[in-house]
Amino acid sequence: MPSPDSDSRPDKPPRRPRYAGKNPRQFHEKYKELQPQLYPDDVAKVLDSGKTPAGTHRPIMVREILQVLAPKPGDVAVDCTLGYGGHATELLTKVQPGGRLLAVDADPLELPKAEARLRGLGFPPESLVVQRMNYAGVAQLIAAESPGGADVLLADLGLSSMQIDDPRRGFTFKFSGPLDMRMNPGRGLSAADLLTKLDKSKLAAILTENADEPHAEALASAILQMHGREPLTTTEDLAEVVRGAVRRWSRGPETGDDTVRRVFQALRIAVNDEFGALESFLRQLPACLKPGGRAAILTFHSGEDRRVKQAFKEGLRSGVYSSISQDVTRATPTEQRFNPRSASAKLRFAVRAATAEQESAGGA
Ligand SMILES: C[S@@+](CC[C@H](N)C(=O)[O-])C[C@H]1O[C@@H](n2cnc3c(N)ncnc32)[C@H](O)[C@@H]1O
Repeated sequence: MPSPDSDSRPDKPPRRPRYAGKNPRQFHEKYKELQPQLYPDDVAKVLDSGKTPAGTHRPIMVREILQVLAPKPGDVAVDCTLGYGGHATELLTKVQPGGRLLAVDADPLELPKAEARLRGLGFPPESLVVQRMNYAGVAQLIAAESPGGADVLLADLGLSSMQIDDPRRGFTFKFSGPLDMRMNPGRGLSAADLLTKLDKSKLAAILTENADEPHAEALASAILQMHGREPLTTTEDLAEVVRGAVRRWSRGPETGDDTVRRVFQALRIAVNDEFGALESFLRQLPACLKPGGRAAILTFHSGEDRRVKQAFKEGLRSGVYSSISQDVTRATPTEQRFNPRSASAKLRFAVRAATAEQESAGGA
């Protein structure tokens, strides 16, 4: 006999279809994050609230960078770290008419989108050259495209917000994703594979050198012990091991997030050999610039800034630079409030010395 509330009751209203959810759960199914240019109203709303709309990147210290570089019509500008193309848009606009922008980035996933955005600005196609490459090799591109060197050059180091916000890239512990961290996912070892290759002392050195991690030894032990038992393959796996280690040594209410952030930063720098690329780039930088050409570099942590400061000082001493920034420039408090990612940014600049012949030609 059917129960009183069974479906066989003739007067029962048909069952409503199950609520499927309005927002896609998987990042790759999201449409606004992947095509923010199609949703200008949403983007404007998020910007007004002081946040970075997902799938975009807000360029940092634009005014200060333009002041230092002073790009003008006809100039050859180089953007070594194209990212979303925010700084590049400004540079490309300022060098018109007649100028060119050479723009590079290591990231094969974001680069085509940034190039499409720049081409969409409507400047002559030949005014923009875009190439996927490590900026460690940008001197070759400049030599081929502008043998005399560049008038202005920018490097805005580190990661873009799109890379950080995309869980598939594995850069952040805030989302679950593969433990990857490669700027070019088609090259080199992922963070998970790198962990397999490292011994305790090497991992501890990475944590110390790349992120000034005070508990490097203990963390390296905890991470490699767990990785040996069961490979850490996701961002969550790694974050959990680090949090567990912090819980063991801390008695306070520490969440361990600061430690997790340092571990992720250190590994990411190692995975992408960021210091190797920066050092090689800094060695070639004078040759990338025309006499009187200007370079600006935005750094985001002490390991980067130390290297830039040192290279600029040496260049000034040896005479390849005629002037360098005396101190770092920081984002204004307003910018820091509206874009927290600008809070750690430090800007330095260097100006290539004029050659002896040009000095005498100019003075004649
Ligand atoms: C902070 S973002 C640049 C944002 C950009 N200025 C803008 O306005 O959108 C840094 C970019 O540098 C790239 N990058 C980092 N290291 C690189 C390297 N060694 N060679 C080339 N690109 C690199 C990253 O892929 C990322 O897109």
